[in-house]
Amino acid sequence: MYKVTTHNEKETIELAQNMESEKFPNMVICLEGDLGSGKTVFTKGFAHALGIEEAITSPTFNIIKEYPNGELPLYHMDVYRLEGNVEDLGLDEYFHKGGVVIIEWADMIQDYLPEERLEIKIRVLDDVEDARVLIINPIGQAYEELCEAVL
Ligand SMILES: Nc1ncnc2c1ncn2[C@@H]1O[C@H](COP(=O)(O)OP(=O)(O)OP(=O)(O)O)[C@@H](O)[C@H]1O
Ligand SMILES: [Mg+2]
Repeated sequence: MYKVTTHNEKETIELAQNMESEKFPNMVICLEGDLGSGKTVFTKGFAHALGIEEAITSPTFNIIKEYPNGELPLYHMDVYRLEGNVEDLGLDEYFHKGGVVIIEWADMIQDYLPEERLEIKIRVLDDVEDARVLIINPIGQAYEELCEAVL
C-alpha cells in the first residue's frame, strides 16, 4: 500500500499521467472517495496522457463512457447513480476489451470488480486546502510493478 499526498489539482493530474506511462491493456483502476475528492480530475489527467482530446465529463446518465481514440481505448464509468442491476452493465466485457477501465465509486460495485486491479482511495483533508491523500493499493503483480515504477 502506498500513500501519496497531492497539494493541488495539478499534482493529482501528474500522478495520473505517471501511471498512464505504465499502462497496459485491460488495466482496471478503481477510484473511491467522497464527492468532489478528485476522481474525475484523476481520470481527466489519465485520459489526456492517453492522447484523448475530447472533454471528459462524468458519465452520469449512461454510467459508462467510451473514448476509443487514445493510445488505448478508455472506458470511464461512474457508478454513483447506478440503479438496477449491476449485471446489466456487462462489466466483464469491458474488463477484457484491451483498453483501460477507470471506475469512479468502485466501492459500490465491490463484488463485480476483477480480482486484479489498482485501488485508489482519495481522502480530502479538512485542514489543508486543496490537499488530497491518495491511498494506493495494487492487487496483482502487474499493478505492483506499476506502482514500483511510478511511486
Ligand atoms: N489535490 C487535488 N487533487 C484533485 N482535485 C483537487 C485537489 N485540490 C482541489 N481539487 C478540486 O477538487 C475538485 C475535484 O472534483 P472532481 O470532479 O474530480 O471530484 P469527484 O471525486 O470526481 O467527485 P464526484 O464524486 O462528484 O464525481 C475539483 O474542483 C478540483 O479542482
Ligand atoms: Mg467525478
